[in-house]
Amino acid sequence: MAKKNIDWANLSFGYIKTDKRFVSNYSDGKWDEGAIIEDDMITMSECACVLQYAQTIFEGLKAYTTEDGRIVIFRPDLNAERLANSARRMEMPVFPEDKFVDAVVQTVKANADYVPPYGTGATLYVRPYMFGINPVIGVKPADDFQFRVFTTPVGPYFKGGAKPIVIKISDFDRAAPHGTGNIKAGLNYAMSLHAIVTAHEEGFAENMYLDARSRTKVEETGGANFLFVTKDNKIVTPKSDSILPSITRRSLMYVAKEYLGLEVEEREVYKDELKDFAECGLCGTAAVISPVGKINDHGEEICFPSGMEEMGPTTKKLYDTLTGIQMGRLEAPEGWIKVIE
Ligand code: PLP
Ligand code: COI
Repeated sequence: MAKKNIDWANLSFGYIKTDKRFVSNYSDGKWDEGAIIEDDMITMSECACVLQYAQTIFEGLKAYTTEDGRIVIFRPDLNAERLANSARRMEMPVFPEDKFVDAVVQTVKANADYVPPYGTGATLYVRPYMFGINPVIGVKPADDFQFRVFTTPVGPYFKGGAKPIVIKISDFDRAAPHGTGNIKAGLNYAMSLHAIVTAHEEGFAENMYLDARSRTKVEETGGANFLFVTKDNKIVTPKSDSILPSITRRSLMYVAKEYLGLEVEEREVYKDELKDFAECGLCGTAAVISPVGKINDHGEEICFPSGMEEMGPTTKKLYDTLTGIQMGRLEAPEGWIKVIE
């Protein structure tokens, strides 16, 4: 195995084409066997359902090189389950969960030379996705679908890595009550693009979305859930039916309780409480835990005591424990780590 000649330590979160990808097609009511292929291009009808009506869903997970040189992936069974839930909500066929895990394993194995070496801070991001591919003009679901998995080596999602970021409270809504906020559909991200461009233009790294109904409760950002640390060191995360059930957040809540002995709470979090928290972080596969130093609420700054220089102490402990598990430095809970090779 010869690792690719990539400046691993300076990667950002961008797309780099890797050698192989997995493709499986659904037609006549069934999935084919699927295969690893080299061609990264997709040819489809101008009227494909995904192009006209955005019938597309996706997942995101990472492959890591552990301290002892193995390649592992983190909780892929939960991504398989979440993609299946997204498929049901979007009137798409479920890609069998065991086959999902197998497809991810095959794709990572086929691109092993792109898995960043241990200690570089980079990882191999894995993107499984599915879309409606046959022509559809009246509004209805496709009949034919394609499931694919590609990989790309990535660095930190936010520039500066572990440096705290400043975010703003958005005036746009991300997800409606009873909408699609709790699944990973491309449409949720399409409608956040204007909000993220606006936030970037104003100098903010991300948006905090509030609940669309009352605009009083914290939901999530465009690509991560929130974790807060109270002044008495309790971990609090927003509970809502319209946010994505983050695998990182669920894992961190377990880690906080079982590894760090902290009290954890999943509950509604009001915007008015933000000023009382000691630390704030964004958690997700891409974000890992990105510390938030300040939140701008229409010109008024909410500054966390952890400051703008470094991660707060509890966020740091959570970060070190989770990444320790992912990189094989700490023993993982049963079933969390799947060894690829
Ligand atoms: N929320 C949104 C909107 C996301 O896109 C993501 C990323 O997948 C997350 C939260 C974090 O989820 P996970 O930890 O499963 O990656
Ligand atoms: C992930 O963390 O995997 C995501 O899908 C978030 C996306 C904004 C990159």
